Amino acid sequence: MNKISIIGTGSVGSTIAYSLAIMGMASEIVMIDINSEKALGEALDIRQGTPFCSPCSIYAGSYVDAEDSDIVILTSGIARKPGQSRLELAQTNVNITKSIIPEITRHAPNATYIIVSNPVDILTYTFHKFSDLPENRIIGSGTILDTARLRARLSEYYNISQSNVHAYVFGEHGDSSFIPWSVANISNVPILECDKLITTPGIEKPKLDFVDIEQYVRKSGGRVIARKGATFYAVSISVCHICKCLLGGVDTTMTVSSMMHGEYGIDDVCLSTLNLVGDDGIRGKVNVPLTDEEVAKLRLSADTLKDVIKNLEI
Ligand code: LAC
Repeated sequence: MNKISIIGTGSVGSTIAYSLAIMGMASEIVMIDINSEKALGEALDIRQGTPFCSPCSIYAGSYVDAEDSDIVILTSGIARKPGQSRLELAQTNVNITKSIIPEITRHAPNATYIIVSNPVDILTYTFHKFSDLPENRIIGSGTILDTARLRARLSEYYNISQSNVHAYVFGEHGDSSFIPWSVANISNVPILECDKLITTPGIEKPKLDFVDIEQYVRKSGGRVIARKGATFYAVSISVCHICKCLLGGVDTTMTVSSMMHGEYGIDDVCLSTLNLVGDDGIRGKVNVPLTDEEVAKLRLSADTLKDVIKNLEI
């Protein structure tokens, strides 16, 4: 039995539910929303397609129906509007998250929690401070989406499979995120050296603009929101990947948001570095060797988040 409860049935929550049903990853999906009619509509719309999926019971419910969930996914809160930063949503979504935590943890005390709502690093930190959950079972989606955007972009640039691209986005899921280029590689060829080593006869590519790629990743969410009003496909697929690793029992590395305890000289803040995720949540961190400049960028990202946190009521 893989039971997954999703709090919030807006575009992200309902797309996650739909994706999980399509991927056959859960035997039971509970969709919970303060707007119960919306939750009912979304659950019914997906359920009516499940005869063509792996068996899955998907229904709208309330917190009590989340009993014994293996995974709980938090997507509720106000979403960004065009031009708005994720951090501007902070206090409102912290308040919403604080109202949810006692309700959901009462019914699903043993679940692994995936926080997706923004600002995700701040809300992940809120879960740590405001719930009694063990740390390893609190995962913020963090920069898993940014890393996916980076890999997709580098795959286009090098015209090579995304499975050959190994690169990460660290820090805040937001404007202070950065790419540690020193550990990025294409099939173990360091990207910092790639331009010399990967040549496609007859095809002259413009030199990789590292700053441009970093801005592309940072601004992708805003660019999609400006065009279609919200983002939900890429983030939902990313969250399903976390679920797959949690349920699959194979420890997998990924950039997700977790509590820092002195790594790179950073503590008492949640942000994304390379974590090991397995069947009981965060199983540890892979402390990737960073250059002094990259450590400084990570600490700057941590300080950005801490500056926001100190002005919040958490
Ligand atoms: C984005 C949202 C999930 O970056 O923050 O698309």
